[in-house]
Amino acid sequence: MTEPTIPTSVFTPQPTPAVDPADRLRESLRESDASTPIGEQAAAAVRIRSGSEVFPTPQERRVITVANQKGGVGKTTSTVNLAVALALHGATVLVIDLDPQGNASTALGVPHHAGVADVYQVLVDSVPIAEVVQQADGVPRLRVVPATIDLAGAEIELVSLVARESRLQRAIDAYCSGPGADVDYVLVDCPPSLGLLTVNAMVATTEVLIPIQCEYYALEGLGQLLRTIDMVKAHLNPKLAVSTIVLTMYDSRTRLADQVADEVREHFGDVVLATMIPRSVRVSEAPGYGQSVVTYDPGSRGAMAYVDAAREIAVRGAAPAPLPVDAT
Ligand SMILES: Nc1ncnc2c1ncn2[C@@H]1O[C@H](COP(=O)(O)OP(=O)(O)OP(=O)(O)O)[C@@H](O)[C@H]1O
Ligand SMILES: [Mg+2]
Repeated sequence: MTEPTIPTSVFTPQPTPAVDPADRLRESLRESDASTPIGEQAAAAVRIRSGSEVFPTPQERRVITVANQKGGVGKTTSTVNLAVALALHGATVLVIDLDPQGNASTALGVPHHAGVADVYQVLVDSVPIAEVVQQADGVPRLRVVPATIDLAGAEIELVSLVARESRLQRAIDAYCSGPGADVDYVLVDCPPSLGLLTVNAMVATTEVLIPIQCEYYALEGLGQLLRTIDMVKAHLNPKLAVSTIVLTMYDSRTRLADQVADEVREHFGDVVLATMIPRSVRVSEAPGYGQSVVTYDPGSRGAMAYVDAAREIAVRGAAPAPLPVDAT
């Protein structure tokens, strides 16, 4: 009788594959229990950084004005973070900083000191957007038209120019029918006023996104904003509509925040995003590092809320248009 042959490989110690510690960490984060707050934050951070989730992109380019003449309600923060969130989830996005304060340019890490080619030149000197646009820092699909302090004079200088209300529209149309043909979203960050800069934005876009801060007086002044939108719609841009309202700086510990949120929802219905942006220190810290909170601290509550809000905007915009009533 012959001895059974035993494969030698059984006894040969197999080399253990070298595992990169960074991969191991990534793997453990991916597997972390998303039911705990820390696990949820870690999972959100990994999802955002890996770009694994792709939001639906619109069939037609969406051009959105972010406006509210009230100061400090979260216009810039919302513009920047929604733009970054959309760009990190598959869309190509152009942000136009239309505020002489240049806060959106700062938060997106693009130079906007005196002498930098900016949106003022686009509006007043008819320089093409392609000549002033910059790549946002660290977000490949995001481009920015910066604002420098020069823009402070534009409100007055525009008054005497031909087609003063539609100069931004012409510039965006020219860019998007040429080098910017791949852009899915254009977001325009407005200053806290209803002057010619904001009107230029409203003429150039079809949607208005209004950030409303969850605090006392939140609805005050909104009537004036809505009347301006109606006037632009009646005389300059019939396609304009309020498509989105986002509630910002929501503090769940106060009853007031809930009251404001309820009142806004009662007034505006479905236009209000389900996602509310919480008040969070991380959101206010991020611009100091030339970043959005979505890139600065992707696992933070503020970043996750902005990603959720961006997803809602993308999903709503991707819904097929309702058929005309008499269509068969
Ligand atoms: N969710 C938030 N949590 C904490 N701070 C926030 C939040 N959103 C915005 N902020 C802070 O509130 C301030 C005003 O926000 P932001 O600049 O976005 O408002 P704005 O409407 O663009 O202001 P302006 O009218 O001056 O252009 C900023 O300091 C910003 O960092
Ligand atoms: Mg601002």
